[in-house]
Amino acid sequence: MRPRLIAIDGPVAVGKSTIGQLLAEKLGYSFIDTGTMYRALTWKALRLGIDLEDEDKLPQLATTTRIEFVLEDVYDKAYRVFVDGEDITGEVRSAEVERNVSLVSKVAGVRRVMVRKQRLMAGKGKIVMAGRDIGTVVLPEAELKIFLTASPEERARRRYLELLNQGNKADYSVILTDLKKRDEIDSQRMVSPLQPAGDAKIIDTEGLTLEQVVQKIWAFVEE
Ligand code: DC
Repeated sequence: MRPRLIAIDGPVAVGKSTIGQLLAEKLGYSFIDTGTMYRALTWKALRLGIDLEDEDKLPQLATTTRIEFVLEDVYDKAYRVFVDGEDITGEVRSAEVERNVSLVSKVAGVRRVMVRKQRLMAGKGKIVMAGRDIGTVVLPEAELKIFLTASPEERARRRYLELLNQGNKADYSVILTDLKKRDEIDSQRMVSPLQPAGDAKIIDTEGLTLEQVVQKIWAFVEE
């Protein structure tokens, strides 16, 4: 029996969403990137000018905001993200969202609402879900839990190349500094800090291609 719920956790820029999407495609499952949900909420809070540490308003905003993933093209399997019906795919990865998302995602009330939404989305299974706390908090019952790692330097290098390939300007040392700052906030926050579940399979992706990582996960899927 193949696992019906697969959790993929790990730090920023370790490749969770690309790898999760490839794996979901191979299995014919849906893919949910929970990081994008926190980004979408951050985008809306910024637009409304809400204080990004407001522990009353942000959970309320999380409750009333409709976040949806729509498969753009069944052939290239790209997902678009909608907030209250508005397509914000081009904005969820902006520098402004990137800088602020760690603040929003450490608010306990926000996490409670998001976890509830994520559990509902996981429904009956056939889901690959990526994030920071999927194996530990959101889906502790997942039959397969993967925790991906790579050094901050390797992750910064990958993000740097990705930005250059997309035709953007990029500064490696700025990316590395930001990434380390986000690692620190994500790992040290009080609620659901980034950490592997006790029963997670830890995969060090340093020096591996995306396909090699997917192959390693596939071996666990077939176990
Ligand atoms: O994976 P990402 O970079 O898109 O995640 C964006 C932010 O959201 C990141 O700072 C950590 C946070 N996050 C979280 O706290 N819990 C999750 N399940 C997913 C992401």
